Amino acid sequence: MRYDSITEVIGDTPLVRISPEIHGLQNVDLYAKLEMLNPFGSVKDRAAWNMVRPLLADDAAGERTVVELSSGNTAKALAVISGMHGLPFKSVTNRMKVPEIKDLLLLLGAEIEELPGQAECLDPTNTEDPLTKIHQMLSADTAAYVHTDQYYNPRNIEAHQSATGPEIIKDLGGAAPDYFIAAVGTAGSSTGSARALRAHDPSVGVIGLVAEKADFIPGIRNIDEVNEVGLFDPATYDTIESVSADEAIDGMLTLVRRCGMLAGPTGGAAYFGAVRHLQAIDAQLTDRKTAVFIVCDRVESYMSYVRKRRPELLRQPARRNSVATLTDAEVEAAPTIDAAAARRWIDEARPLVVDLRGAFAFDALHIPGSINIVDEIFAELIQAGMPFGRSQPVLLACPVGEQSVKYAALLRRMGHTDVRSLSGGIIAWRDAGAALVRD
Ligand SMILES: Cc1ncc(COP(=O)(O)O)c(C=O)c1O
Repeated sequence: MRYDSITEVIGDTPLVRISPEIHGLQNVDLYAKLEMLNPFGSVKDRAAWNMVRPLLADDAAGERTVVELSSGNTAKALAVISGMHGLPFKSVTNRMKVPEIKDLLLLLGAEIEELPGQAECLDPTNTEDPLTKIHQMLSADTAAYVHTDQYYNPRNIEAHQSATGPEIIKDLGGAAPDYFIAAVGTAGSSTGSARALRAHDPSVGVIGLVAEKADFIPGIRNIDEVNEVGLFDPATYDTIESVSADEAIDGMLTLVRRCGMLAGPTGGAAYFGAVRHLQAIDAQLTDRKTAVFIVCDRVESYMSYVRKRRPELLRQPARRNSVATLTDAEVEAAPTIDAAAARRWIDEARPLVVDLRGAFAFDALHIPGSINIVDEIFAELIQAGMPFGRSQPVLLACPVGEQSVKYAALLRRMGHTDVRSLSGGIIAWRDAGAALVRD
């Protein structure tokens, strides 16, 4: 195999059968489409190259900076391709949660602009959300930026419609699979592949996988977030199912330990979701079926993600004081306080008010006298033990009260006697007309 450019290596990824001894399905042949074998490491190489190629051909690209809203694989591919063409690349993100990926982007020469998560902003229509910020940047200075726009760009879908889907049909001997399973981020790979497969055979069942609400699987969205994506059309999918971070890691473990496929968490989510969906129908099937799922990228970038969620897999002690260990009953029993009562409590008992939001949102507006400990740092802090005196009154606040109630439950379990979570979070506090200050 000889090529003139690394970009020619994108695509034509292998389709590899998973042994039935591993997945346990009686009537289904299950295949993994190994997108992690693309040259820059993921399924996003296809979309990135397809979106940026016409822009590079455009003379006006000149000295402009390529810009994209991405915290991971699209940014990685665009950083490489931009570098190859002598153009700077900038990734604007509010989801840069995996340190290895951030380091790699910096190594590739990317500039990273980090913005607060949309939920952290007091006003969800705030113009500081990354999408609006990118569009502002572009309209302000089209001479300076080339925006690949993966959440809206039809060339993202087209990359998969013209290649990923047809490759699957070719490798299955000219037939579409009966089931196609893919995790959904921008929805480009699932939509494009599904279109090609259904054009060949309209009866293909398409299963989209998203992360469980309030759970994080790097690279894909949860069901609320997916609805914000411009390319997402619910009609593409026969069903959309959720996978938890734990299930994604379980699926990833099977792929890396038993199948020899060094898949990352979303490949694991796709495997787990595929087997779960197919197991439910396997016994009723009267003839043999074929199913294909996408393995998006590789495992190596996710070591800190695994260490944080499943330290025992890396021979480290399990995390005792972690919100992941809470039962629903513990969370329900956590002490909460509404904004009006919290104002009185602050006046009377002077609790320590801990704001768990990101630093950017805290700096913009916060409860007077509160301190900022970003939730991820707070999580680390309580690993080491109780950070306050057990009877020191503490009020925990986050954007809408979903995180703080978990930490209140955890501190309660650890023996704290006077902790409360601000119900409805800083948003409810603002809506109640209570004071907020800016540093
Ligand atoms: C690791 C990983 N898995 C899955 C996906 C989902 O792919 P798509 O954006 O085509 O929906 C992405 C997208 O960024 C990803 O980075």
